[in-house]
Amino acid sequence: MNFFGKKSLTLDVDIHSHLIPNIDDGSQSMEQSIEMIESLIRLGFRKIITTPHIHPNYPNHPEVILAGLSKLQKELIKLNLDIEVEAAAEYYVDQQFHQKVKDNDTILSFGGKHVLVETPFINKPAFFESAMFDLKASGHTPVLAHPERYVYLEGSIEWLEELKDMGVLLQVTLGSLGGYYGKVPEQIGNLLLKKDMVDFLGSDLHRPSHLAYLEKGLNAKYVQRALKENRLKNCLLL
Ligand SMILES: [Fe+2]
Repeated sequence: MNFFGKKSLTLDVDIHSHLIPNIDDGSQSMEQSIEMIESLIRLGFRKIITTPHIHPNYPNHPEVILAGLSKLQKELIKLNLDIEVEAAAEYYVDQQFHQKVKDNDTILSFGGKHVLVETPFINKPAFFESAMFDLKASGHTPVLAHPERYVYLEGSIEWLEELKDMGVLLQVTLGSLGGYYGKVPEQIGNLLLKKDMVDFLGSDLHRPSHLAYLEKGLNAKYVQRALKENRLKNCLLL
């Protein structure tokens, strides 16, 4: 139920979160993961694709992520929590990632070879477009995480329009639309929604303190409008 007493529309599938305990800067324990997953169920989510970092600070291998997923799934069964949980990853685009793509290494993907990628917040890597080109050539569909939060865009969405033209999809974070990251990400997120440039919304849930902003974002005007007009791809992943 939202502020006006109307029933809010829900997103069904989350494609970005850090819910496998102790492998990145997300959940710090199984108990914390369960607490966050119970909240996602309460908010109407029916499926979670969780995406641990593969980043210089968290150099997770696919085997580590999949082993963590299996432990989490067993715990959900034990607690009789009715939600589907899969895992992919959030890849930090650096030279190492670009090399992995060129070498045809295993890349964790979701929903038909979609790959979630991020850049540093301050500087855009000079080779980003070339890495995306190679990722697409290897049969994957890149999805750029939280484009509204990159400081180097300086409030302009011009580069994001170019990325969309080259086939990079965009995932805006619900917390940005709920005001968690400040005015500029909220404004850019809303602008991208208004211009119908958002392919996916995601929670980017790391810790329980994110949940209130996530819920606020879910009930935000332009999110509810996009859900009503069926303009997001999240539900296609059910
Ligand atoms: Fe993330």
